[in-house]
Amino acid sequence: MPIFPYFYQKFTSMNINGKHYHTIWLKKNDPKTIQIIDQRLLPFEFKTQDLKTIQDAYTAIKEMWVRGAPLIGVAAAYGMYLGFLGLNDSENLNQEIKDLGLFLESSRPTAVNLKFAIDLVLEKTNAGKSLSDKIQIALETANQLKLDEIENCRLIGENGFPLIEKISKAKKGDTVNILTHCNAGWLACVDYGTATAPIYLAHEKGIKIHVWVDETRPRNQGARLTAFEMDQQGIPHTVIADNTGGLLMQKGMVDMVIVGSDRTSSNGDVANKIGTYLKALAAHDNKIPFYAALPLSTIDWNMNDGINEIPIEQRDEDEVKYVEGWNNNQITKVRVMPENSPVLNYGFDVTPAKYVSAIITENGVCNANKEDIENLKK
Ligand code: MRU
Repeated sequence: MPIFPYFYQKFTSMNINGKHYHTIWLKKNDPKTIQIIDQRLLPFEFKTQDLKTIQDAYTAIKEMWVRGAPLIGVAAAYGMYLGFLGLNDSENLNQEIKDLGLFLESSRPTAVNLKFAIDLVLEKTNAGKSLSDKIQIALETANQLKLDEIENCRLIGENGFPLIEKISKAKKGDTVNILTHCNAGWLACVDYGTATAPIYLAHEKGIKIHVWVDETRPRNQGARLTAFEMDQQGIPHTVIADNTGGLLMQKGMVDMVIVGSDRTSSNGDVANKIGTYLKALAAHDNKIPFYAALPLSTIDWNMNDGINEIPIEQRDEDEVKYVEGWNNNQITKVRVMPENSPVLNYGFDVTPAKYVSAIITENGVCNANKEDIENLKK
């Protein structure tokens, strides 16, 4: 029985092997355990993980069992709830609560949804008089954030759909070719995705689409997760090596680019998975629209210069040194470079606002500039 039947009347549910899933949920009959889909194993294996402590939530975010900005936010809110469950009423309660937030915030630096969610839980739980009140408020806040992010993605789909429809009409119903980078699909959120939400809706409404999926080295979120989603949802798609997009754009094989974002500054600079900036440059050179789809929880309202201020995560060199794949019925790692060569592994880059054709949010589509972004709040 779907939890939100009214969504499904107008929007396909996100399925794995025909069964509807969210990326995170409270365990049935065990409200002290959070369950997640372990994204390290997809598309090869489907397993869930139980999170029982704030340390579990920290590990799940840091080691990318869950990933993608909106999902990181929701996982952090539930992580705070688990943290509250682990506290004892003491004189230092306020300090201990602050420490929970600082600890979880240190898991990953770039996606601002992490801080947004932690601050939200801290603010709401402040009203609780006793520890048990605070625990209850933390759970309610996490549950509500999860529902909000589902609805945000659904609305991003509704708001982004006309952009695809317009190109389809201009092409007289011929296939609209959309390029996307990394995974900004439902696996990066709770349901529907950000960049993928307009794509899923267009497909559902019978518009002919085809998605170019950047493989997204080093962790291959495109090849592993976006391609998995597209396959599961029956969307025509093709995986391409990261360096292919520019050529396809020159050849007229890309009609639009839609990506997600991990943090967008208030002036419209868009941080997203490393490699996004190069796609934006190529799109600009070829006069192809480049859209960033994101909920308002991804906007850093206090930051005016994303290029210089957004913290860029650097990850372990092994992510570049080794490639993971499926061999002999198990996930296997192979080294793809000399053992002793140094590696630099930046996780994200920032696309300057001037290369972003528009931002697609739950509150509407706007130009990537401070004034128009500010107006989204209203
Ligand atoms: O390192 P990841 O996998 O967490 O990075 C995810 C991305 O860069 C996504 O494109 C972005 O979070 C948008 S998610 C809807």
